[in-house]
Amino acid sequence: MKNIISIANILGIFVISCCFQCLVYAQIQTETNTQLLLDSSQPTVLITGSNRGIGFAFVQHYSKNGWNVIATCRNPNKADDLQLLMKNSTNIFIEEMDVTDFEEINTLAQKYQGYPIDVLVNNAGILGNVPKQSFGNLDYDLFQTVMAVNAFGPLKVAEAFADSVAISNQKKIVTMTSGLGSFAIMGNFDRFFFYKMSKSAINMGVLTMNASLKSKGIIAALISPGMVDTKLLDESGYQGRNKISPEESVAGLVKIIAEISLDTMKKTRGRPTNFDEVILPW
Ligand SMILES: NC(=O)c1ccc[n+]([C@@H]2O[C@H](COP(=O)([O-])OP(=O)(O)OC[C@H]3O[C@@H](n4cnc5c(N)ncnc54)[C@H](OP(=O)(O)O)[C@@H]3O)[C@@H](O)[C@H]2O)c1
Repeated sequence: MKNIISIANILGIFVISCCFQCLVYAQIQTETNTQLLLDSSQPTVLITGSNRGIGFAFVQHYSKNGWNVIATCRNPNKADDLQLLMKNSTNIFIEEMDVTDFEEINTLAQKYQGYPIDVLVNNAGILGNVPKQSFGNLDYDLFQTVMAVNAFGPLKVAEAFADSVAISNQKKIVTMTSGLGSFAIMGNFDRFFFYKMSKSAINMGVLTMNASLKSKGIIAALISPGMVDTKLLDESGYQGRNKISPEESVAGLVKIIAEISLDTMKKTRGRPTNFDEVILPW
């Protein structure tokens, strides 16, 4: 009996030590892959919410154009389109990052510490349940969630990755806003309370961030995608005809991002630039 117990003990220790070695190996693999595969002769972009919609179209565009693409999303295992795209490319690095999970954001930023990120695209966003954000029926838990994703998330991601952006050539942080955050355009529109407020809040956040990051040579700018045929627009119940595809929107947005400079910032005075180059009012 004693012999059986001691054999079981030895087997147990062996299995635990194998598991530990596998874990260490996996960690080394991840770090080594990043070091080996990021092509330092090409610019690098990090995109949040990259598994579908406009974020995914950004991945497609930048990857096709030879950039290193750090495609972040909150659930890589379910990101089928992204996984498929990655299989046929050498320059896409899928990383898990929920923009409301500050620990996850810090861990990923640490992993990429010392690697230049030329363009950080704060794209992830949610609309939130529509009936729960109409006056008289406001759900304040939902308000916190929408603010966490659309307003706090982009700020935290920018803070965490600012050092990587600062050591890059292009030094740009772009954040996706919406015409719905504009006081002038949407002030009298009585729907989407939380979404509108979150986008107005991030507008001020980015403006202030731009002032904070000047000393590092980073430009923080606001971009807006137009009415894009995605799940988010679908959830809004929008039935209008002037929808565009994510690819059309991104074709305009990447041109705007490429042209961002101190001169364009003087022209916009920080206001969002729409995919068709129209400057949106505050
Ligand atoms: N579509 C339009 O007409 C329109 C207009 C103006 C502005 N925008 C803005 O454009 C951006 C992209 O929206 P979209 O139209 O492409 O919407 P979408 O198709 O619904 O995609 C939203 C993306 O954000 C991700 N996301 C949501 N919560 C997240 C979180 N906590 N952490 C990380 N990722 C998260 C989603 O990931 P999951 O799959 O995990 O949910 C998804 O990848 C948003 O900021 C949106 O406000 C869109």
